[in-house]
Amino acid sequence: MADRWRGEWSVGLDVLDNEHSTILGLIGELAELSSQQGAERHVASIVAAVAAYTEHHFVREETVMSAVGFPGLAGHKLVHQRLRDQTNNFLRQSLDDPAQVDLGSLHAFLKEWWEHHILREDMAYKPFLENNPRARQAASAA
Ligand SMILES: [Fe+2]
Ligand SMILES: [Fe+2]
Repeated sequence: MADRWRGEWSVGLDVLDNEHSTILGLIGELAELSSQQGAERHVASIVAAVAAYTEHHFVREETVMSAVGFPGLAGHKLVHQRLRDQTNNFLRQSLDDPAQVDLGSLHAFLKEWWEHHILREDMAYKPFLENNPRARQAASAA
């Protein structure tokens, strides 16, 4: 899996692309961490960053999809809710005791999120966002 964001992964709006590249960065940090001693200390901060990213990005993405009349909005929101729930489970574990968090599962979860959700499901709204001024307006208001 590549660790740098590429232009071909664009969903048609730079604000959302930047947020997607953030998650790619977090996956990279996590992969490095897995091979280090004392990783637990950093796990909590990565999980907190993932949770903050999730809330903020999903709200913005849903606002934009709604503004452009994306027909798959309802289904996409359900997928976001599932990802949010999984993220919150990792967050609870890491707040309780970061040593409890299974780095392999966390990495697999984020990798699946990247490969399945961002590169496939998010891509579905791209044709509705590209060159659409309503998308840009909605993104800056969210
Ligand atoms: Fe996304
Ligand atoms: Fe999404």
